[in-house]
Amino acid sequence: MDSLRHEIRAAARQRRTFAIISHPDAGKTTVTEKLLLYSGLVRTAGMVGSRKSRKMATSDWMEMEQERGISITASAMQFPYKDVVINVLDTPGHQDFSEDTYRTLTAADSAVMVIDAAKGVEAQTRKLFQVCRLRRIPVLTLINKMDLPGRPPLDLMAEVEAVLGIHASAINWPIGVGSQFRGVVDRTTHRVSLFHKTAAGGATKALRTEVALQSPELKTLVDEETLAQVCHDLELLEMAGNPFSQEAFLRGEVTPVFFASALTNFGLENFFDAFVRMAPSAQPRVADTPAGEEISIDPVEMPFSAYVFKIQANMNPRHRDSTAFLRVCSGKFERDMVVRHHRLGTEVRLSRTHSLVAQDRNIVDVAYPGDIIGIVNPGQFLIGDTISLTGGFNYKPLPQFQPEVFARIQPVDVSKRKAFDKGMTQMVAEGTVQIVHSLNEHDSFIAAVGRLQFDVLQYRLKTEYRVETALELLPFECSAWLMGDVATFRPPSDAMMVKDHQNRPVVLFRSSWSKQFARERNPNHTLLEMG
Ligand code: G4P
Repeated sequence: MDSLRHEIRAAARQRRTFAIISHPDAGKTTVTEKLLLYSGLVRTAGMVGSRKSRKMATSDWMEMEQERGISITASAMQFPYKDVVINVLDTPGHQDFSEDTYRTLTAADSAVMVIDAAKGVEAQTRKLFQVCRLRRIPVLTLINKMDLPGRPPLDLMAEVEAVLGIHASAINWPIGVGSQFRGVVDRTTHRVSLFHKTAAGGATKALRTEVALQSPELKTLVDEETLAQVCHDLELLEMAGNPFSQEAFLRGEVTPVFFASALTNFGLENFFDAFVRMAPSAQPRVADTPAGEEISIDPVEMPFSAYVFKIQANMNPRHRDSTAFLRVCSGKFERDMVVRHHRLGTEVRLSRTHSLVAQDRNIVDVAYPGDIIGIVNPGQFLIGDTISLTGGFNYKPLPQFQPEVFARIQPVDVSKRKAFDKGMTQMVAEGTVQIVHSLNEHDSFIAAVGRLQFDVLQYRLKTEYRVETALELLPFECSAWLMGDVATFRPPSDAMMVKDHQNRPVVLFRSSWSKQFARERNPNHTLLEMG
């Protein structure tokens, strides 16, 4: 027993399970590719290949999913990096931004926030950061594209603090910016890493020279003006910057900041190494007991348990099943083990399990806390389901997110109503879309975080249930759950009141301005962003 516990403890300590959060185009895919390069898994970067597929039109993307029968948008990848095991969760951005993106974050122990040095903190980053904050997920910040003309590093630090409301503490500092970007200096050791481009550009590791900040040699390698600027900034940071503490980082109070160019690889290895050192290993997860008590599930002391954070439909119409993605929270998973399915009250055998490395699916025989396993799901799993060897608790339900797109949907051919209803019930259960009803129950609408979810819904209704649908977008842009007396709430004239599937009142607004107006007008009510 003790040797098993040792094995689980060692494996849990090795795990770094994280998600990259960023606004589209900040460099998430490039950073992921380079992590594979620096882990030694690929010898030249450019193999993840999801970038091109992501930039395709939605329909092309779906055709491709269909052809391959497996997901192009890898949900999680696992690979060793030096002496740790990395589990990187994909948080789709671009037009595929959806509730999945948010839910996936709940499976992470930490997040890496990639910011474009020219653009600063952008909208999608802000939203994802808020989820990390709510879930108390520690965030590391990587300021990317330092090889391009960008904003002054001190301004970027100030923006992170002002916009996100978190202390930012620079762990290293750039030597030069734009075309003059040469590398980074470590603020603790005062070691300078200077990088040199290789013939293959960023496709192979950049060559690195290490020198001390004070060494005369540095003056022969970096021009005087750049060095003077670095020393000036470092002095300012010493005087006015935030100190870094690992404890404050783990509590989500401070974010360590790094500078790099993911394209040229300058500064990346320094960041990856620091990430491995700082990012938490597999953390305990909170669960509820049937008696309503909150308990913390220890990754090592508790036998195997996991929860479903994502269901990905297999777009291949010949195989209707989908994949349920589970985060292992405690104990050791072994293929073919029989576990309790808490919601159904039954036992299930976990046999068709796999993980993903780049594009390849691998059978998973064993997994440890922090790992993500995909299980081919013949319908028995729903988002939020808990499974375990012991039973007796449920992982906290995943938060529901405030939808931002709304529509009315109907079958084109009314005789298909039955198939349509069946398909909709399944899609809602999978979390593809949410359904909201008008207060008088006469009307119902679909709601989602991103537009792509509607495309996926229509596509699947057509291919899996043979129902063509007509979709009419509604002119609302945001929503909020209403807490307080519905009768006394005074909505703005262009807002609409509806109920969600749990009969909770929801207000749909045409703009965030209108939502703010409603807040000011109804000081005795609360408009909640997340349920
Ligand atoms: P995303 O996943 O966050 O959406 O961003 P992605 O990595 O796809 O990067 C978006 C664009 O920015 C890509 O260019 C990529 O090459 C470029 N990029 C990423 N990191 C850096 C960097 O550090 N410096 C510079 N100069 N560019 C960077 P693209 O032209 O859209 O794609 P591609 O044609 O190069 O593949």
